[in-house]
Amino acid sequence: MATQRYPYYLANAAQSPNADLEVTDKFRGSVAARVALPDATAVEQAIAAAVSAEAPMRALPPYARQQILEHCTARFRERHEELALALCVEAGKPIRDARGEVTRLIDTFKVAAEEAVRIDGEVLNLEISARARGYRGFTRRVPVGACSFITPFNFPLNLVAHKVAPAIAAGCPFVLKPSEKTPLGALIIGEVLAETTLPEGAFSILPLPGERAGALVEDDRLKLLSFTGGQIGWQLKARAGRKKVLLELGGNAACIVDADQRARLDAVVERMIFGAFYQSGQSCIGVQRILVHSDLYPDFRQRFVAAAAVLRMGDPRDEAVFLGPVIDAAAAARLRAWIDEATSTGARLLCGGAGTAQLLPACVLENVAHNARLWREEAFGPVAVLEPFNDFDAALHTVNDSTYGLQAGVFTDSMTHALRAWDVLEVGGVIVGDVPSFRVDNMPYGGVKRSGLGREGIRAAIGEMTESRLLVIRDGI
Ligand code: SIN
Repeated sequence: MATQRYPYYLANAAQSPNADLEVTDKFRGSVAARVALPDATAVEQAIAAAVSAEAPMRALPPYARQQILEHCTARFRERHEELALALCVEAGKPIRDARGEVTRLIDTFKVAAEEAVRIDGEVLNLEISARARGYRGFTRRVPVGACSFITPFNFPLNLVAHKVAPAIAAGCPFVLKPSEKTPLGALIIGEVLAETTLPEGAFSILPLPGERAGALVEDDRLKLLSFTGGQIGWQLKARAGRKKVLLELGGNAACIVDADQRARLDAVVERMIFGAFYQSGQSCIGVQRILVHSDLYPDFRQRFVAAAAVLRMGDPRDEAVFLGPVIDAAAAARLRAWIDEATSTGARLLCGGAGTAQLLPACVLENVAHNARLWREEAFGPVAVLEPFNDFDAALHTVNDSTYGLQAGVFTDSMTHALRAWDVLEVGGVIVGDVPSFRVDNMPYGGVKRSGLGREGIRAAIGEMTESRLLVIRDGI
């Protein structure tokens, strides 16, 4: 059967020049699809088109933006299984996770459609002193203008949606560079956007390798760069000139299990297995560091390791598979090296190990030195580290002893401990009663420290993609 070829999108139109990018099936290693590769001229044309679409996008009434987003949700529903299969193949994402991501894609566009007609302003009381008597103030939100978006491989649909859907709701044209490892999800979104009445130039989707996307970072005609990915984001920010920069750069998420959780330990273990190992740990909020009260530690360790050791690994198309491949051989080699580094400095490997090629089993370690990369850096793989604690405040301190701060989880029944965690933890979000990996798509999402800048989640992203414009009226002159 011929390999499917996908066009890229330049100023809303499909383009298919001769040059190709090969997209591999991450489990089989074969070429799964070919994608038309844009050149430097296409990048320039996309930016120019986005800039010239600023005025028509700004003029598009909210109900029209809503209708465009509603069209997308309807089409994604119709193409649900096709989208899930594309993710399964291009990202090696187990089919059940892939279907879950399509459902979230639909949620994200649905919420954006709702928010598109709720972008309001304020009436201000300016009469704060006698000299302001008779003045009234009003604000409204206006779109920032043309944006560039760079998205990662791990959620090829929904992390694209978290930039594209609020941009449409806010009235911002954009140029998107999806990960060159997983461009298919974004290109199918492009196919659906091309069916809509978005003004010409409103969107371009260019599956470029990172080194050819410099203009999306540096060009001063673009007003905002939103990047999701690794620590390279800080270098992009340094090159971004005057534009506003939003960064979502991951973390080494921690989860605390408090002393009062004995009665529901099985349920805690079940969620922790999900949080640590779903889509082979390739999530910015995957559980990496697990802190368990010492009263529960032996029991927790025994149940967690037993559950991790039997997770099924293999072809992500198989409905029973929990762990697919990691994204590439380099990621697998890096993780193996980090595990070796930890064990050579005193860590105990409780289950898992080398695996084969890009397939890594669920690995659980304890006694990991706090200066080992497995503790300090973002693992982004199927690896979890266990550590006991005696004092809740000390556990909070351990969570904070990280250069990252995206989300943290706390299993506790104590309202005092929950509120204390919310007060003390240096993260963008505290999840009580669940793992830090919990995310629904309307919640504000983003980190502090090395984890990033700004917030996504539709309403928050619309806030970032718009700015306040003030009107002052003096009456009774
Ligand atoms: C991420 O990995 O950056 C996002 C996680 C999610 O949306 O669930």
